[in-house]
Amino acid sequence: MQKITKAIIPAAGFGTRFLPATKSQPKEMLPVVDKPTIQYIVEEAVESGIEDILIIIGRYKSVIEDHFDRSVELEMELEKKGKYDMLEQIQDIAGMANIQFVRQKTALGLGHAVYCAKNFIGNEPFAVMLGDDIVDSPGYPCLKQMMDLYEREQCSILGVKEVAREDISKYGIVDGDKISDGLYTVRSLVEKPKPDVAPSNVAIMGRYIITPAVFDILEKTAPGAGNEIQLTDALKTLALKEKMLAYAFKGRRHDVGDKLGFLEATVEFALQRDNLRDDFLDYLEGIVKTYRG
Ligand code: G1P
Repeated sequence: MQKITKAIIPAAGFGTRFLPATKSQPKEMLPVVDKPTIQYIVEEAVESGIEDILIIIGRYKSVIEDHFDRSVELEMELEKKGKYDMLEQIQDIAGMANIQFVRQKTALGLGHAVYCAKNFIGNEPFAVMLGDDIVDSPGYPCLKQMMDLYEREQCSILGVKEVAREDISKYGIVDGDKISDGLYTVRSLVEKPKPDVAPSNVAIMGRYIITPAVFDILEKTAPGAGNEIQLTDALKTLALKEKMLAYAFKGRRHDVGDKLGFLEATVEFALQRDNLRDDFLDYLEGIVKTYRG
């Protein structure tokens, strides 16, 4: 039985939903409280037992590489000032996992970004984690839930949630049958359908476990929705050839690529910090009254 040890994090998009903040800074580096969003994703991978991570970056994304590298000057400065807690935190980031980078030279879509990881992955099942989706699931990380399911089912698995009708057209949507609570077969998939033609409201939420057979399919996948090579289209073909499941993972999922989702994540993660919770709650109570009038 093959184990999942590798994860791909595509981080090559333009981040147009967050302009102008993302004009010269990758969206993956936008902080939620005090950590860049991509660090939450890397931490989820590491806590799930992933050993090797490939981050697919585009142009102007080398700060992501810097973030996961040593920062010798900063470390010396923190040591000199006796800020040992902070020093440890900074050193931990660089030692978190074996993280490698590859550049997607042209932004041809998510499917193409994943294809860039072909050599890194080889012939093993692997995880894909999208940086727009932060899943808050303390104690049992989303990816670990999916890896545990993979051990039992030995097939590709899509992390999903049911969404409201008006949100259907933002996602890859599953066409399948419910097998048990939170588990569906995948017969087919459609990327960002209009609600009236969508096969369901079960939406892909940026966590995937995929068998390596997807690479041969991606190689031949033509541009689809938005004129981009879509991972969803390749997975649709894969579902015709192999068993595929969709799993409604446990945990709160935040769409940090969306302004409202980003703000919600910021508030919720701040409220989980012991050193912020009480003061921040007092502040929120007051400010809500002021604005609600
Ligand atoms: C991508 C995928 C889509 C998925 C979504 C989850 O879309 O193509 O299938 O549902 O991520 O966040 P994007 O949000 O990059 O347009």
